[in-house]
Amino acid sequence: MAPASLLLTRVAAATVAVACVVALGAMAQQLSPTFYDASCPNLQSIVRSGMAAAVQQEPRMGASILRLFFHDCFVQGCDASVLLDDSATLTGEKNAAPNANSLRGFEVIDAIKSQVEAACPGTVSCADILALAARDGVNLLSGPTWAVQLGRRDTRTASQSAANSNLPSPSSSAAALVSAFASKGLDSRDLVALSGAHTIGAARCASFRSRIYNDSNINAGFAAKRKQICGPQSGGTDGNLAPLDAMSSVKFDNGYFRDLVSQFGLLHSDQELFGAGVVDSVTARYARNGAAFSSDFVTAIVKMGNISPLTGSSGEIRANCRKPN
Ligand code: HEM
Repeated sequence: MAPASLLLTRVAAATVAVACVVALGAMAQQLSPTFYDASCPNLQSIVRSGMAAAVQQEPRMGASILRLFFHDCFVQGCDASVLLDDSATLTGEKNAAPNANSLRGFEVIDAIKSQVEAACPGTVSCADILALAARDGVNLLSGPTWAVQLGRRDTRTASQSAANSNLPSPSSSAAALVSAFASKGLDSRDLVALSGAHTIGAARCASFRSRIYNDSNINAGFAAKRKQICGPQSGGTDGNLAPLDAMSSVKFDNGYFRDLVSQFGLLHSDQELFGAGVVDSVTARYARNGAAFSSDFVTAIVKMGNISPLTGSSGEIRANCRKPN
């Protein structure tokens, strides 16, 4: 063999070897929908009935749990860091600015976890319970369903500072949103599809005050109506709620995108997805085509659920979702 082609063959062999190592590394990290099939066969039905009871009592809970999953995955990966309480030895994420007085649903996860522990002690992570509960919350509010990847383990640590810096603020520009999602391996289509989560649930006046008083790209009648429950100064009305989707906040549909093309976005960051010129075409497509939104949402939330999971012997299976073992 001529020296040049010999060299090429060696380079090719080395490339294959490196590719194999990379693939093996990826496999070790791989989650699977069948992870608990043998070790906890009733897991999915336990989570489903816990969520069904919670959503029946209060439909908004489907939204609150979906948001918990997002706030988990964007901080250290989907490792249940968001569920840890502050303690003498640990500063959790619950008091970070995007979470304080805002995140809810922890009791619902606790109740489901107790039932899962009773059926399969020490087996199922809080991170996986949250991923399943978020899926069921969406589906119980008439949204799509999907196979949840499983096998995540729970972290022993949390990061309040990462919660403050990694979770996008409602005053973000479209460019800032694209970059926050890109830093988690999510592209601009994922950003728009995942933002469609705002088709359910509510926001506090404190989160949308500046939008209704200061933005000009807002439907005037809509702004006037929201001002009736949200005063111009911070204070007494801060905690008053408005639906994120003016059309149907307990139905997981494409109403949120139809809001945006009519300048009915409640958060400044919502309206940045239409009109700023950065992702307008994706938003317009979802406003026209609910099935396209639904299918892209599923793709994107599975991707989000794959952010930096702890697997193998990393982390632990927490006994109580609020504290490390
Ligand atoms: C794109 C960047 C995002 C920003 C800036 C943002 C911001 C916010 C804010 C400010 C609220 C209201 C909180 C309050 O006033 O208490 C909220 C609520 C909510 N967010 Fe997001 N969010 C974003 C993306 C997402 C994603 C990706 C999801 C899930 C996949 C999500 C799910 C939700 C849900 C369901 C609610 C309503 C929760 C409830 O009613 O309890 N958000 N978001």
